[in-house]
Amino acid sequence: MTTQVETKIPNPKHNQKTFRYIRGYPFVGNLPEFRKDRLGLFLHMARQGDVCGMHFGPFPGILFNKPEHVQSILVEHAYDFDKGLAIHNTFRPAIGDGIFSSEGDFHRRQRKLIAPPFQPRHIASYADIMGYYGEQIQQTWTDGTTIDVNQQMTNLTMSIIGKALFDADVFTETDELGAAMTVATEYVSHSLSTLLPPPYSWPTPRNRRTHKAAQVLRNRIQRFIDQRRNNSSERNDFLSILLQARDEDGKPMGDEQVMAECLTLFGAGHETTATALSWTWYLLCQHPESYQKVQQEVDSVLRGRTPTYADLARLPYCLQVFKEALRLYPPAYAFSRRALRDIEIDGYRVPKGWIVLLAPYTLHRREEYFPEPEKFDPDRFIPEREKQLPRYAFLPFGAGPRICIGLYFAMMEGHLLLATIAQRVSFSLVPGQTIEPDPVHHLALRPAGEVHVKVKKI
Ligand code: HEM
Repeated sequence: MTTQVETKIPNPKHNQKTFRYIRGYPFVGNLPEFRKDRLGLFLHMARQGDVCGMHFGPFPGILFNKPEHVQSILVEHAYDFDKGLAIHNTFRPAIGDGIFSSEGDFHRRQRKLIAPPFQPRHIASYADIMGYYGEQIQQTWTDGTTIDVNQQMTNLTMSIIGKALFDADVFTETDELGAAMTVATEYVSHSLSTLLPPPYSWPTPRNRRTHKAAQVLRNRIQRFIDQRRNNSSERNDFLSILLQARDEDGKPMGDEQVMAECLTLFGAGHETTATALSWTWYLLCQHPESYQKVQQEVDSVLRGRTPTYADLARLPYCLQVFKEALRLYPPAYAFSRRALRDIEIDGYRVPKGWIVLLAPYTLHRREEYFPEPEKFDPDRFIPEREKQLPRYAFLPFGAGPRICIGLYFAMMEGHLLLATIAQRVSFSLVPGQTIEPDPVHHLALRPAGEVHVKVKKI
């Protein structure tokens, strides 16, 4: 990335700090690089200083790249920012105003209603589902065959979130639901990468495809809701818990809201974790000594058993590996906020309406916290070393009141599936593939295209 740099000051007041902007093209600003080489653009910005500006078309965006900035923006000033028009206009028409796109008091109410089943206490009860599906999928792989590990991890995490959300075996329906979900997430990532996406109501080919996919998902979820309403037997799935939840005034959520939350959780709850696991396998294949350590750990702790929640504390190396994969390839590699008023962050002025960016991808590559940042080194997450990291230097799940609600679920899932699968099979990368992250065509930082690995049964 050789983009030039210009210095510009957003109406500085006395004593306010200034920062540089990446020079862009007239009207489109830095959108061409943002679409072509987004990670390269962010890395280039991070190299200019702790704060650097760019332009989404005519709109400025400021990348803040220090852990202290995360604390200031996501925690201390959490309510001085919202998620901005791009998120609102993309998510709300397509899936409704779920917890990911809602704001203010409404978001706080929804978060309170939805949070209980995501607490660590409750999440532990899903460990058996994760182990069960991990065992199921590895049994479908025969010795010596080649699989696309990226697709397989997506099927797996989709089955798990389907079971946790709806107590349904969507495994066999992965094709229909998976295809619909893929169309929906492709629509979201396209809209978020485009300066002026056509409104959702316009009958463009992409919008028509998305409407159709959303209908498939809605019909299926409505059937689950109807089943719960017609059958009062006690169940532990998220949907049942959402339907029983009551706010402070004793009011339940309406069906439309339950639908929006289910679509949000279904979407947010599988692609991110599948992405993290795909990169974990890729990195392990590239680093046989770490792969061997993982396998030694699972063999000595599990001795052939499917791991349970209680085993996780005795599988620390697996957890270190999963965290290191999240560091190098954070599925949510960047996210944004819009200033609701003029705000000062670390002495830099952010005018009302401007966009700020936080990028775990660049934060996780700060040399002072992660020496030789491109090196895969799971020992960075040995607990004593991890404790030395400043708060928010490692940010795969965000922070503050909008921190990922699925954090404990995802961490347990990654940890447990890694152990389950590593005990049964060894993967090796099929030679001749170029595997790179593709942030443009997917919402999460998925590998571009397929990741072919050869399966060796143990
Ligand atoms: C490795 C897996 C995952 C990663 C890296 C991840 C990352 C994130 C991040 C960074 C945010 C905050 C975005 C922002 O502040 O703008 C977020 C929010 C969210 N995540 Fe996750 N996530 C993962 C898994 C999950 C799972 C398994 C679920 C649900 C089962 C989930 C549900 C959500 C929801 C609903 C929000 C919005 C929370 C709110 O705004 O209050 N995520 N996630």
